[in-house]
Amino acid sequence: MAVIGTTVFAMQTTHVDLRHAICALSEALDLVGIDDVAHGKRVGIMAAACGKQAGYGAQECDFLFDLGMLHDIGVSSSHVRSRLENEFDWPGVQAHCEKGEHLLHDFPPLAEMAPAIRYHHTRWDVLRTLSVPDAVARRANLILLCDRADALAAPYHASNTVLQHINEIRAEVARHAGTYFAPEFVTHFLACSQTEAFWLQLESRAIQAYLADMREHGLHYHASHAELHQLARIFARIVDTKSPYTAAHSQGVASISRLLAEHMGIAPERCIKIEIAGLLHDLGKLRVPDEILDKPGSLTPNERLVIQTHSFETWQILRHIRGFEDIARWAACHHEEPDGTGYPFHLKASEIPLEARILRVADIMEAMAQDRPYRAGLKADEVARFLIQLSQEGRVDKDVAHAALGIMDEAMSAVRS
Ligand SMILES: [Fe+2]
Ligand SMILES: [Fe+2]
Ligand SMILES: [Fe+2]
Repeated sequence: MAVIGTTVFAMQTTHVDLRHAICALSEALDLVGIDDVAHGKRVGIMAAACGKQAGYGAQECDFLFDLGMLHDIGVSSSHVRSRLENEFDWPGVQAHCEKGEHLLHDFPPLAEMAPAIRYHHTRWDVLRTLSVPDAVARRANLILLCDRADALAAPYHASNTVLQHINEIRAEVARHAGTYFAPEFVTHFLACSQTEAFWLQLESRAIQAYLADMREHGLHYHASHAELHQLARIFARIVDTKSPYTAAHSQGVASISRLLAEHMGIAPERCIKIEIAGLLHDLGKLRVPDEILDKPGSLTPNERLVIQTHSFETWQILRHIRGFEDIARWAACHHEEPDGTGYPFHLKASEIPLEARILRVADIMEAMAQDRPYRAGLKADEVARFLIQLSQEGRVDKDVAHAALGIMDEAMSAVRS
């Protein structure tokens, strides 16, 4: 048995493809961007190409690709994303580096990336004065170079005119040799970025082909359930930091879902997976602009339609991860309603997996019990009355709503702890 926080895990493992998970994390991060949705992927592809040019082995080049994909894992607001895209350097830049490091450093399968992420916006002339291991400094600086090259090229990718601007981008990178970037990396970048192919592989269709190749070329890992849980928490924290009003929501839904599942006599292994699905259920909210997610008052019908894209988007992000198939389906269905009026698939009661019906009740309980800026959280008896009413209207599963009444006090303290 392993214990993390208050959660106890059996020592079974699940076969997960880590590269699929990295691609999914990158996909989630891309959703934070509004105009530019492939920054991490382009940085990863360029970093791997520069690594190859430098004579690094295949394993290190793959690592650089993965690192590029996740280097901005600490960014979770479109405001920070747009400053990173539009300004070469700015005083607040370090915060997302430290947050990214913090997210990955105690997750063993990806912890090797953490120190390079921490320094990926530190100039080379400053980095050399710090006591950072050489391998970390090199990885971090190569990511910085590719990151800034991408910031320069991004507007031209958007207008499909990048080939007309190769020389100015390369000249701008060269201008920072020895200050921002290690001179040898500038040399490698200039050598491999001469060709049209280097730039054309960064266009969206070519990126999809590149990713398909990388997905084939998997990174197999036998994750313990504790590690699966940690991975889910990394995804969940990206979502929660995006909106202060949903902070801790994913964690609360996860805890209540697990309590409900246990109370309903579901096998322990499945209870853990349900908890993980709870952590991930709102992942697709990364696609929803901050102004809508953080809006204090009620939403307009059009804003509601935008919010309603999120559960489908959750499915899109998770369904390609080998090892997460069930979790993806359950999370995708957390807004389906037994009477068929839910979204996004409009499933009828018997078609909705029990696990998704549990998530739906947990989601409602958490949202009702939580304090919001415009109203105080509901008390246990008010939440219970509301659930009974919803089950009578065919909007939540009757059995799950009934089970919820049996764990109400525990669920309320899980939300408020
Ligand atoms: Fe960054
Ligand atoms: Fe970046
Ligand atoms: Fe949701």
